Amino acid sequence: MKSLLLPIIVIFLLAGHYLAEVSSQVILEVPGYGVLNGTNENSTYTERPFYAFRDVFYAEKPTPENRFLPPLPKIPYSMDEIQQATNNNAGCPQLNSTNEDCLSLNIFTPQLPFESDKLLPVMVWVHGGGFSLGHALEYLPNRFMEHDIVLVPIQYRLGPPGFLSFDTDDVPGNAGIFDQIEALRWVNKHIQYFRGDPSQITIAGESAGSASITLLLLAAQARGLFQRAIAESGSVLAEWALDGDGRGKAASLQISEMAGCPVEPYQDLLTCVCNIDPAELNEAYRDYSTAEMSKGGLVFSGSNPIIQVAGAQRIIESDPFELYNSGNFANVPTMFGANKQEGSVVLGLLYTSFLVPNNLTEDEEYLANDLVPQLLTTLR
Ligand SMILES: *[C@@H]1O[C@H](CO)[C@@H](O)[C@H](O)[C@H]1NC(C)=O
Ligand SMILES: *[C@@H]1O[C@H](CO)[C@@H](O)[C@H](O)[C@H]1NC(C)=O
Ligand SMILES: *[C@@H]1O[C@H](CO)[C@@H](O)[C@H](O)[C@H]1NC(C)=O
Ligand SMILES: *[C@@H]1O[C@H](CO)[C@@H](O)[C@H](O)[C@H]1NC(C)=O
Repeated sequence: MKSLLLPIIVIFLLAGHYLAEVSSQVILEVPGYGVLNGTNENSTYTERPFYAFRDVFYAEKPTPENRFLPPLPKIPYSMDEIQQATNNNAGCPQLNSTNEDCLSLNIFTPQLPFESDKLLPVMVWVHGGGFSLGHALEYLPNRFMEHDIVLVPIQYRLGPPGFLSFDTDDVPGNAGIFDQIEALRWVNKHIQYFRGDPSQITIAGESAGSASITLLLLAAQARGLFQRAIAESGSVLAEWALDGDGRGKAASLQISEMAGCPVEPYQDLLTCVCNIDPAELNEAYRDYSTAEMSKGGLVFSGSNPIIQVAGAQRIIESDPFELYNSGNFANVPTMFGANKQEGSVVLGLLYTSFLVPNNLTEDEEYLANDLVPQLLTTLR
């Protein structure tokens, strides 16, 4: 016990000393990547000091040419300049956010290389939000930083910009999942400079993030990039999480048309969706999904992962049930579960998007006999 505790206390004292001597900035050199200016912060309960680096880019901003394709890794910065890693990124384009330069992650660590040689386990967090909402900034690190871990919430393309699919090589689907994998590559390469252990990476996520985790367990491209997985309240086996049989394409075509793009000829459609303001695609998706949900069910088609039939790189090409049954997945320790009362989110969605528009809120017959089966179908 003693031998374990001692180094931790030493780190704590050193960090405290460092904080006392230096202002709130922390300049960190990340070899092969760049020089970052982060901040010193404190944990919630014990005011344990930790370091925060926000909006650290793992990939280049998508261009019209690769808007729906796997991302390009971030080109390293000059080591002669300092990158500001002190501000939050508002998330990938979604309602109220239009900034496509969003392929970034946040890093929170209780120690840096000048304080200790000890590498800490890493948790990479994939946010939820139905594959169309959310960002890294909503996950505050201050409780996790009571513990000896490095926490890395990541962002990925959302909505149609992240998941539109025409089943063609230009728009093959799953761009947002390729982003998650690129983020994992970045973490594997650089996290040691934040005192994270690249051989102890846990991927974890909630809701759509959880569905993503169970998809990453299947994806060949993600093999070896993590050693453990935690999935909370969502699975790629759920009907809302993955589309096949052209459902994604059909929805994507409708959404593009609603955004004002010509559906034919294909080249005009492509030029339009690659150049249109992402906000217009997201607004069209909102209208499309509102209309679909008023028919019942939780529909994310056009904005969620698909079983790919096109693209030079493919995340998943067959039924996830079959892949899991055949043992064709990353064989790592996993934790699966559902967060308490999480179903109330779906009940809320069902209420506003289905019960209210269909005048069912006072319908005693429906409420007594059909509501619960409907809810269970929705969650399938
Ligand atoms: C680092 O960021 C802080 C804000 O947190 C700023 O005051 C400071 O000037 C920055 N330092 C450099 C060298 O850019
Ligand atoms: C962290 O705690 C130290 C010691 O209590 C304090 O001096 C410092 O201002 C705190 N920093 C922040 C960012 O709250
Ligand atoms: C998004 O924008 C709409 C309209 O501008 C506004 O009513 C809403 O409060 C905003 N939502 C958030 C989460 O900022
Ligand atoms: C719901 O009720 C309103 C007001 O009575 C009515 O105008 C509307 O058509 C009804 N909607 C449906 C789907 O029945």
